[in-house]
Amino acid sequence: MHPAQLPLLGSPTPLQSIETSKLGVGSESRLWIKRDDLTGTALSGNKLRKMAYVLSDAKACKADVLITCGDLQSNHCRATAILARQLGFEVHLVLHGRKPQVSQGNLMLEHLAGAAISYCNWRDYRALRDSGFAELVSHYARENKKAYVIPTGASNEIGLWGYVSAYTEILGQCEEKGFKPDLLVCATGSGGTHAGLVVGGALAEQGVPVLGIAVCDNEAYFRQRYSEDVTAFNQRYGYEVQGSSSNFLINDTFIGEGYGKASPDVWQVICRLAQAEGIFLDPVYTGKAFSGLLKLLEEGAISAKNIVFIHTGGLFGLLAQSEQYARYVNLRAQASS
Ligand SMILES: Cc1ncc(COP(=O)(O)O)c(C=O)c1O
Repeated sequence: MHPAQLPLLGSPTPLQSIETSKLGVGSESRLWIKRDDLTGTALSGNKLRKMAYVLSDAKACKADVLITCGDLQSNHCRATAILARQLGFEVHLVLHGRKPQVSQGNLMLEHLAGAAISYCNWRDYRALRDSGFAELVSHYARENKKAYVIPTGASNEIGLWGYVSAYTEILGQCEEKGFKPDLLVCATGSGGTHAGLVVGGALAEQGVPVLGIAVCDNEAYFRQRYSEDVTAFNQRYGYEVQGSSSNFLINDTFIGEGYGKASPDVWQVICRLAQAEGIFLDPVYTGKAFSGLLKLLEEGAISAKNIVFIHTGGLFGLLAQSEQYARYVNLRAQASS
């Protein structure tokens, strides 16, 4: 059963060929970027695909208020805040972190969209999230409002459909361009993009391996997570997708100093792609994943001939790290003087 979705995405996003030599990488592989950073403007990125399904469910449930959570610069929370305004929901975001004096990037857009925001430390955030935001749900129930809770990154069995559908779109575009991809690569944060692509391959019965480059948790976590998401997907939609798959590849060696912290190498790759192609990666997700991919190519650790990297967005997270970028520029200047 294919669930209903809201028409949030217009036409397919472009699939763009990239010359690896322009990025200073000598490789036999051909590289393509699936431009899901172009799913929209303020609403750009991978979240739009997942939310097309999740918010269709929220509408069917006759929800009044959307509750979701994430980091201070969560792209998912920004997308939820904006979509709520477009679709007539109220929105309450629970963010992990201290309220900053100045709101930047995603947080600024959430403020502009008038989202209700609760800031909490990690312990409280986890407790609230693990309770399914029970207190907040009751709070809105007392106001006769029905709350609809969306998990981090909209990565549940409903949101998975976003990249199940994207898989078909990508394979169709590759066919039009006359090649079959041997490897898809994406950044893996809450796991839904990666899992959706692998499930998409399983349903299409022509699975292409999907390499998720982890930006936070480790391989064991993401394998477990995939298995749980697939179980929930099978139960809800009546499929029999396997909870482990040889097409589910995960690399957790590019996390560096931690979630949201980009090394000089990552910044260098962000600069290189911007200068070679005018494509902007972000330091939290796509920059780490793309620089990981380039390293694997340089080391000869990937033998795939045609690789499609899914650019999942994150521009506002990049803009929120202008100070970190300035530090990188200073470091580079010191090193070359
Ligand atoms: C820009 C961007 N890329 C990639 C990801 C990772 O996607 P997922 O959460 O589906 O693993 C996220 C969100 O977590 C994101 O905001």
